[in-house]
Amino acid sequence: MATLDKTQQDAEKLAAALAAVKFVKDGDIVGLGTGSTTTFAIKELGKRVKEGLNIKAAASSIRTEELAKSLGIKILDLGRLSKIDISIDGADEFTESLDLIKGGGGALFREKIIASLSKNAIIITDASKKVKKLGAFTVPVEVIPLAYQYVFDQINQFGGKGILRSVDNKTFITDNGNLIIDADFGLIDDPAKLSVKLNQINGLLAHGLFINITSKVIMSEGTNIIIFE
Ligand code: A5P
Repeated sequence: MATLDKTQQDAEKLAAALAAVKFVKDGDIVGLGTGSTTTFAIKELGKRVKEGLNIKAAASSIRTEELAKSLGIKILDLGRLSKIDISIDGADEFTESLDLIKGGGGALFREKIIASLSKNAIIITDASKKVKKLGAFTVPVEVIPLAYQYVFDQINQFGGKGILRSVDNKTFITDNGNLIIDADFGLIDDPAKLSVKLNQINGLLAHGLFINITSKVIMSEGTNIIIFE
């Protein structure tokens, strides 16, 4: 994983975001992710909308919805959509085979629904997010509160070390009213297998392993844009 200073990292995030926005066409329904990289894309889309681009969007979090609305982007009810033309989102880690870890911002469940609905699910990143094997970043797991201990113990049985996410000494609550367990499985040899195992835990709403749902990753490295698909 490359180490970048924040200015350089932001320049790469912006470049990847601008490259992704070029794929958005007039009339598209656009899925909007969450996070600092996606914020660059939403701001660019807001500019294009002011210039006359006609799109409607679905948001993966309350903060994304608020930002998009403030920029004049019309937001649709995600729960009513059967398809999204294109989505743009960030990632915490990705591999060249397009497996991801997401959910650093806690929006993984809605992000997964948006990616699943998307004909063209685009991930945008700076160069620091590319890894050979997933797992240095812990796997976020969204859990219904009443199933917390059960899910925590199951993760433990699968070899994961879980920590209840808290921010500023307060338990983190998702936009869906749930908890996040950040689960450390070490470097993950078979993310698809782990994904299936986690999906079988009752009370686990979603986990941050995104397998086989990404169409392309647009990564910016220095002045280069590299597309993995
Ligand atoms: C939000 O829950 C995440 O999935 C983000 O997309 C991910 O954490 C990447 O965020 P940054 O773009 O801020 O790195």
